[in-house]
Amino acid sequence: MNSLLKAENVHKSFNGVNALNNFSCDVHENEIVGLIGPNGAGKSTLFNVITGFIESENGNIEFIGKVITKYPSHKIIKLGISRTFQDLRLIKQMSVLDNILLCFNNQQGEELQNIIFKSNSIAKVEEENKLKAHDLLRHAGIEEKANDLAGTLSYGQQKLLSIICCLAADSKLLLLDEPIAGINPEMREKILTIISELPSKGKSVILIEHDMDFTMRICNRLIFMDAGYKISEGTPEEVRNDPKVIEAYIQ
Ligand SMILES: Nc1ncnc2c1ncn2[C@@H]1O[C@H](COP(=O)(O)OP(=O)(O)O)[C@@H](O)[C@H]1O
Ligand SMILES: [Mg+2]
Repeated sequence: MNSLLKAENVHKSFNGVNALNNFSCDVHENEIVGLIGPNGAGKSTLFNVITGFIESENGNIEFIGKVITKYPSHKIIKLGISRTFQDLRLIKQMSVLDNILLCFNNQQGEELQNIIFKSNSIAKVEEENKLKAHDLLRHAGIEEKANDLAGTLSYGQQKLLSIICCLAADSKLLLLDEPIAGINPEMREKILTIISELPSKGKSVILIEHDMDFTMRICNRLIFMDAGYKISEGTPEEVRNDPKVIEAYIQ
């Protein structure tokens, strides 16, 4: 399997507390890697460092063979990594459709020369993006919500929308931070289906999730981390049965 993302010895501390302790991991093409561990283990920090929201103190991150360690977020997104946030970060006063449209990676409109010289092609791309956004909403079963304000959706639907926004970027790698936390069983199944289809569409996922059953069902591999360290890594079965993991969960 080809390597997609490689993080090596990534280190980040906050006020003397090591959130990432020389952490290394690999993600291959077309796989779902579950990142599990207690609160404060450093899971979201890893996402922040990979996506350029936080700069690591040490270490190296490569994506498709390119060193991205010092890249700013917008460049990393363009290269093909998108993410959701634990606290969602939707624009609640905008429509569901507009939230999705903001996330497409193919927009040319921001540059002045494009506005002046390419208005027809911009309009065409925007029209195509709208169609794709409706397709994504239809696939997720919430197309009727397209024109509603994002803030009026239920919490589960907002979680689903944040995943749809992530899909709109058509990235090779999706980083999903607790996509099913706090939502009902029906919505969990829907989200499980959407995530589990991604490898067959040429995408890889790192999934932060506390629910062991969910990760066991959906992940090809699991990484268990605690206090910024990688404690265990392997198939879901191997990690679940690792005495170090059992000990950490019982404590
Ligand atoms: N921006 C920040 N400023 C200060 N401390 C932070 C920040 N982000 C994370 N931390 C600390 O880093 C550690 C790891 O946090 P986090 O990555 O959010 O853990 P997890 O996602 O596994 O629950 C925690 O001790 C947390 O308090
Ligand atoms: Mg977190």
